[in-house]
Amino acid sequence: MKLIVVISDLQMPLENRRANRSLINFIGDRQPDEVINIGDITDYQAPSRWSAGTRAEFGMTVQEEAAYTRKNHIEPVRARYDGPYVLLGSNHGERPLKYLVEKAPALGGAEEYREDKLLHLGDYGMKFEPLSYDFAPNWTAMHGHSKGISLSRVAGGTAMNAARKVQKSVVMGHTHRAGIVSETTGMGASRTLTGVEVGHLMDLAKADYLGPARLANWQSAFGLFYVDGPMVTPHIVPVHRNGQFIVEGERYK
Ligand SMILES: [Fe+2]
Ligand SMILES: [Fe+2]
Repeated sequence: MKLIVVISDLQMPLENRRANRSLINFIGDRQPDEVINIGDITDYQAPSRWSAGTRAEFGMTVQEEAAYTRKNHIEPVRARYDGPYVLLGSNHGERPLKYLVEKAPALGGAEEYREDKLLHLGDYGMKFEPLSYDFAPNWTAMHGHSKGISLSRVAGGTAMNAARKVQKSVVMGHTHRAGIVSETTGMGASRTLTGVEVGHLMDLAKADYLGPARLANWQSAFGLFYVDGPMVTPHIVPVHRNGQFIVEGERYK
């Protein structure tokens, strides 16, 4: 059967470095059939609306951050794993392009700031899916930032709301929460939809925007999916603050 690794919200350069390295070791050791990165791989702080008019906006860090993501995640993954790696579109990923289109539409040439171009995904043999990606029967992956998905405070609840909307089970990131929620409807030949949120891989100490207390209902984790024909089994793997995690009785560091 297939093993698919789903990771989300590294928000580089605000990532948990040790978690990133443990994951790269895991991917290198286990050689999954596919890796799905569900977005917010790079933070792109400068072109955010929160940075408007502040020093951060004038830091011109977009290319720098993209280069950091290539050097510290994409290249080390590719050094150990050359299987399928798909990146999904996300709100942070869209920031540079959106900023350019909104603030300097006359210049054109905005495609250069599309996320797949900034990260040179083609050079690394990686695919880019801007909206959603059907990766298994009756399952789709999406970042979770699109309009019309109502947020839930309960981990997995937002993905469940999305699943109800698209009438497929959904795995997503964006909420930075980690959980699995299912709902079964209909009598007799009933149907179960599942929503999975795979958590984040940030280092909260680096996230100044959370304020000094770093208060957030967020969980550090990633997802594993076993797919055997129509049977799909999702798992959440919690990631400890030291970047370590356990899969099937084995500890990765
Ligand atoms: Fe995020
Ligand atoms: Fe997001």
